[in-house]
Amino acid sequence: MAPDPTRTTPWWRDAVCYEIYVRSFADADGDGVGDLRGVTARLDYLESLNVDALWLTPFYTSPQADHGYDVADYRDVDPRFGTLADFDEMLAGAHARNLRVIVDLVPNHTSSAHPWFVAALADGPGSAARKRYLFRDGRGPDGVQPPNNWQSLFGGPAWTRVADGQWYLHLFDPEQPDLNWDDPDVGDEFESVLRFWLDRGVDGFRVDVAHGLFKESGLPDVEGMTAAGETLDDTMSQWDRPYWDQPGVHDVYRRWRQVLDSYPGDRMMIGEAWVGTPESMARYVRPDEMSQVFNFHWLSTPFSAPALRDVIAATYAAVGPVGASPTWVLSNHDVVRTVTHYGGGDLGLSRAKASMLAMLALPGAAYVYQGEELGLPQVEVAPEDRQDPTWLRGGGVGRDGCRIPLPWSGDAPPFGFSPETAEPVRTWLPQPAWFADYTVERQSRDPYSTLAFLRFALARRREVVPGLSHEFHMLDRGADVVAFRRDGVDGAPGVTCVVNCGTEDVPVGDLGTPLVLSAALAESTGHLLPNSAAWFQS
Ligand code: BGC
Repeated sequence: MAPDPTRTTPWWRDAVCYEIYVRSFADADGDGVGDLRGVTARLDYLESLNVDALWLTPFYTSPQADHGYDVADYRDVDPRFGTLADFDEMLAGAHARNLRVIVDLVPNHTSSAHPWFVAALADGPGSAARKRYLFRDGRGPDGVQPPNNWQSLFGGPAWTRVADGQWYLHLFDPEQPDLNWDDPDVGDEFESVLRFWLDRGVDGFRVDVAHGLFKESGLPDVEGMTAAGETLDDTMSQWDRPYWDQPGVHDVYRRWRQVLDSYPGDRMMIGEAWVGTPESMARYVRPDEMSQVFNFHWLSTPFSAPALRDVIAATYAAVGPVGASPTWVLSNHDVVRTVTHYGGGDLGLSRAKASMLAMLALPGAAYVYQGEELGLPQVEVAPEDRQDPTWLRGGGVGRDGCRIPLPWSGDAPPFGFSPETAEPVRTWLPQPAWFADYTVERQSRDPYSTLAFLRFALARRREVVPGLSHEFHMLDRGADVVAFRRDGVDGAPGVTCVVNCGTEDVPVGDLGTPLVLSAALAESTGHLLPNSAAWFQS
């Protein structure tokens, strides 16, 4: 995209980025699985949301053991999702609508079907091919026990034994062998992959498991680690594990940053780095490393004013000292949907809308996951329909419930997700009948729908953000209220955001003109109702 000469800060600093989980967004070819032509066909919809950028989850050649996070060819499109020509068309269509495009990069592991891993198995112990992965001899008589006690995030041991007796490490599925980032081939290969997509015109990368690439030397046991009780959520956030946040990762991101900076147009990368302290998070966003890291604190926080104020304060403590901009995330394809996280039903939806308004008012970038604009709750997926490797490997109920194909139109599955055919297409995860109430078609007709609300909020955000300071200050409006103000710059009015997390109405009459409301103000008093939020301009 041509750089905007009037822009003084990089585009991603305050962008709203919409996550497309490609398998579940829109299916153009009628196989029940979303694809790139499905995205292209819905670009007008994406433009109408008033988001600034799209992040596409992996669409590369892959056996789909982890739905694309097991990549067999980093430079091609899986036939299920289309072709490179489909990708180019989607990218051009997005750029024509002023939508940037970020693609997912998966550097911690490849697929076991990747030619490198196939060669590593064939070439045997000690070979150069094997050194690109983490192969080790086992422990105990004849090496029958795994080299250490690490457990896979998807359940079961993190080691699998191969025919010649050695074991290989896989923090995730056995079909996702971890790469050995100490091997120079690995760094060179990823630089080349980065350039491949940058040359095609992508605006940036979302870096998967960005904190995982290096493992502590000697691969020490984790004290007390057993197969029981580990789930994806809690293992990703066990900061002190010897496979997370090792110092070597930062040289990788410095190298990538140089590559990004050698291209025009503010190319960026955002890291999925689940790290524990503000200091460790800040290391990823030093000026010569990542542009941003996801800030996951909000999505696991209850709807409580003290807890949300803490999240905001901790976020600034992390990014402030290195001059980085914050990011805000309520949901993604790995976690329970926000509406359900906040209690479900009308209460959950009210809180999700209020939280959305708060995160969109804060300085920095916001990431919105497909379906959030429809207020979709988590879907209860029957055990026989579940597809997530976490479930299949006994690591818990899995993440399928937030990945159900989107409901676009109509009254019955596939709700416009797949083309209309005589025999309705069966989507890869079944959609519940009650999705009929959530379709884009239905919500587009309803001025009070969640979709209408988010479109409106994003339109107002786009208008006011250029006139707002990157700073904000918290206001004291009571213990159960989160309130903050961003002053205007260059004569523009400021915006105050108020979130009522309590049970009493909150007076807001002195704060200016209401700009966006997540729910109507109390009719008689004009007060802000519980579980709602508003922006005021003054
Ligand atoms: C992705 C997951 C994936 C895992 C392994 C995560 O960060 O978001 O969906 O299962 O990485 O690649």
